[in-house]
Amino acid sequence: MSQPTIESILQEKRLFHPGAEFSQNAHIKSLDEYKQLYEKAQADPEGFWAELAEKELDWFEKWNQVLDWQPPFAKWFVGGKINISYNCLDRHLTTPRRNKAALIWEGEPGDSRTLTYGELHREVCQMANVIKQLGVKKGDCVGIYMPMIPEAAIAMLACARIGAAHTVVFGGFSAEALKDRLEDAEAKLVITADGGWRKDAIVPLKEQVDKALQTGASSVDNVLVVKRTAQNIHMEPGRDHWWHDLQQGASGKCPAEPMDSEDMLFILYTSGTTGKPKGVVHTTGGYNLYSHVTLKWAFDLQETDIYWCTADVGWITGHSYIVYGPLSNGATTLMYEGVPRPSNPGCLWDVVEKYGVNIFYTAPTAIRALMKMGEHHPNARDLSSLRLLGTVGEPINPEAWIWYHRVIGGNRCPIVDTWWQTETGGFMITPLPGATPTKPGSATLPFPGIIADIVDAEGEAVTNQSGGYLVVKHPWPGMMRTVYKDPERFKQTYWEHIRPKNGEYIYFAGDGAHKDEDGYFWVMGRVDDVINVSGHRLGTMEIESALVSHPMVAEAAVVGKPDEVKGEDIVAFVTLEGEHQPSEALSKELKQHVVNEIGAIARPSEIRFTDDLPKTRSGKIMRRLLRNLAAGQEISGDTSTLQDRTVLEKLRGGA
Ligand code: WT7
Repeated sequence: MSQPTIESILQEKRLFHPGAEFSQNAHIKSLDEYKQLYEKAQADPEGFWAELAEKELDWFEKWNQVLDWQPPFAKWFVGGKINISYNCLDRHLTTPRRNKAALIWEGEPGDSRTLTYGELHREVCQMANVIKQLGVKKGDCVGIYMPMIPEAAIAMLACARIGAAHTVVFGGFSAEALKDRLEDAEAKLVITADGGWRKDAIVPLKEQVDKALQTGASSVDNVLVVKRTAQNIHMEPGRDHWWHDLQQGASGKCPAEPMDSEDMLFILYTSGTTGKPKGVVHTTGGYNLYSHVTLKWAFDLQETDIYWCTADVGWITGHSYIVYGPLSNGATTLMYEGVPRPSNPGCLWDVVEKYGVNIFYTAPTAIRALMKMGEHHPNARDLSSLRLLGTVGEPINPEAWIWYHRVIGGNRCPIVDTWWQTETGGFMITPLPGATPTKPGSATLPFPGIIADIVDAEGEAVTNQSGGYLVVKHPWPGMMRTVYKDPERFKQTYWEHIRPKNGEYIYFAGDGAHKDEDGYFWVMGRVDDVINVSGHRLGTMEIESALVSHPMVAEAAVVGKPDEVKGEDIVAFVTLEGEHQPSEALSKELKQHVVNEIGAIARPSEIRFTDDLPKTRSGKIMRRLLRNLAAGQEISGDTSTLQDRTVLEKLRGGA
């Protein structure tokens, strides 16, 4: 099994110490230094963050209050004026960084481009002027639906520059999913491309935008289209505009708008336990500081590093750690359009070799897929430039950790396992590589300023090894501020599951975890109805809603099943309406229906037709039993609340 179990993890006793040379040159040089920082931050979180905000960022006007905490609503650096696009670009232009590579881009077909800070600044200003010209104003929202090309980052920075919020929608989401998000965010403009390259084929992004706008999202007045794949596309007169046309003649100067520290920077939709994805809201000042400092310390970012995160900009990892964190630090960030594929299984290592990548950040599911492709691919390349390896997205199984360390890291690179979420804005539990000894499978210790713990439903600390709920007990600058247009849902989802007797509000992440004798955190995975497929988070309810929207489906229950590479795979139990009969063709049709409703990432690997679903007497589907069945395991735990016990027999019979 690829998912670490409590048993496998408890047996994991290996300890890896930071190399002496690494520690000497690192921002944080020893465990003692980490502990001092941690204690300082714990004693005075506001003082700790204020000192960093002063030192690491440029402000147009200083704040007058560090933290305004009206549980569970936080405001950071209240009254401060700042612009993250300014911090990512302008402030570097008066330093030798002006001519440093800000963004190195490698396209899937092998084309490439490097933009210096000076050049990136110019293009961002041009796009900012263009979107202003298209009627976008401070406070408006812009949808970004892009492949992995420099213009994706340029679009984000251009919005931030003029004070428009962005909502980036992952290019793998369907027209339907795009429409829902554009509608919820009331986007005025969509920035997209004709298409993107994905595994040697074209993803028809503009066509999806057309479909989305045909069926809804009436707030969208204009579409700005970047030419990437150059196939024929429809351009709606008056609505659609080519970027390369408008870029000509657009000024390369556009002053960054002074934003309130708490002005909305972006909305990013993420799956939860109910049908509708929620719009996670991040604001400007706190997010800028948090993504900046966490990257600097946890990845020990140095001036000359070439840094590469393989995520897509459509996820929070792309926001915080391809675009904002690295550029705010004045680093060189690498962006890659491709993914390992049968026609090019060694492509990642070619990129490492070509650019001399020093810091590499990817997900356990990618590591497991790469393991499967064989170590001869990395072994045939020169990976000696690498000095640090990061991982994120799900618990990493010790086998994959050890392989990453040995084969990719040549036994010399620290492995930085970063636990965090869309909601947290940046790393929460992570080693500091010059300081923290690592254990394969553990994200180790909380970042300074993060008061994390493991508790029971009453908020009491749990010390036994079967673990409890992972929580955060004090606000931090990078935290989400609310669910867009739904503060009540924000409160309920994250702050009301765990109710300490003293009435305090603590943040519940949705994960289960336990702590070992050294205080190391071992994250076990989601404890709610969220599944993690290849590091992508999907709500079971969301997929169920998609299935029941098909006219032949009466009811559906979706569960995760362990998968060697993806971590989890999607299995759907489906009951049909009336006289409809199960068939291979219908199974295919239902899978495609989910792809149309959500996107390929949500495609069930298996549809199991059944006459009935196991329910409690109050009518709640017992997913726990279905999980057992999907995994081919014995039913474990209590079944006494089951309404109709014969259902299980029928399901076992492979209905
Ligand atoms: C969920 C958040 C943050 C960017 C990627 C996913 C799981 C994430 C780890 C890790 C164990 C992890 C958790 C979390 N997760 N990183 N290092 N170890 N689990 O962001 O889509 O918001 O998902 O991913 O379950 O709650 P996301």
